[in-house]
Amino acid sequence: MMIHPDFQGAMARERSATMAAAAAAHRQARQLRRAGQLRLAATTPGVAGQVVLRDGSAVLIRPVRSTDAPLLADGFARLSERSRRLRFLGRKNTLTEADLRYFTDVDHHDHEALGALDHVRGGGVGIARYVRDREDPGAAEIAVTIADDWQGRGLGTELLARLSDRACQEGIGRFTALVAADNAAVAGLLRSSGAGLVRRGSGTAEYEIDLTCGSVRADRESA
Ligand SMILES: CC(C)(COP(=O)(O)OP(=O)(O)OC[C@H]1O[C@@H](n2cnc3c(N)ncnc32)[C@H](O)[C@@H]1OP(=O)(O)O)[C@@H](O)C(=O)NCCC(=O)NCCS
Repeated sequence: MMIHPDFQGAMARERSATMAAAAAAHRQARQLRRAGQLRLAATTPGVAGQVVLRDGSAVLIRPVRSTDAPLLADGFARLSERSRRLRFLGRKNTLTEADLRYFTDVDHHDHEALGALDHVRGGGVGIARYVRDREDPGAAEIAVTIADDWQGRGLGTELLARLSDRACQEGIGRFTALVAADNAAVAGLLRSSGAGLVRRGSGTAEYEIDLTCGSVRADRESA
């Protein structure tokens, strides 16, 4: 079927305007973060919904469901060996049935997970979770994984911001993250989200983020 050139031109203009707007928003958020005016939780308008990333691609973010095991298994199968190693701090070739159950059958209180789906193709492209610390219920450990071909588009930042909002809603005020010492990408993600390095271990680094939960509540109340 022939597509009229006027229509093609209009589509191209709209797409480039969307990309320009996303890039401008990203630049502004980065400047604000650097100036210390924008903390993680304060960037979060809501938890679920469609998000246009800075390159113009779109994802649907929503809480993970117990029926998502096949989606997670498929996403893991497409993950590079390096990304698996960085996520699990060691070699991880498969997710067992028990792993899949643990990662998807979450109670949305002590354990929350948010997934991102490719808005066009529908596959899983990212996931972020927190698991509350049993000894210190005001804190939770986090993990974030983005599909290799979706890394560097701002999706990790977006998921972490939304996860921090969910954590605040559940009375969690601090995130901890234990990561590989050579993981420059997650160090950048955590730092730009307000985290500080608190400890170095052998081959690992531990970060903490104090969530600005008060401002989330204030934003919501004034909305
Ligand atoms: C770490 C990870 C979650 C980052 O997600 P992402 O969506 O690629 O990150 P973003 O695009 O939101 O980037 C956020 C910041 O991280 C930093 N960053 C991202 N990729 C980077 C890279 N390859 N090198 C250095 N810094 C990088 C930048 O500071 C960036 O900020 P900027 O966009 O303002 O420049 C992703 O790379 C990943 O899934 N890696 C494999 C699994 C893993 O390491 N998980 C973390 C352990 S729990």
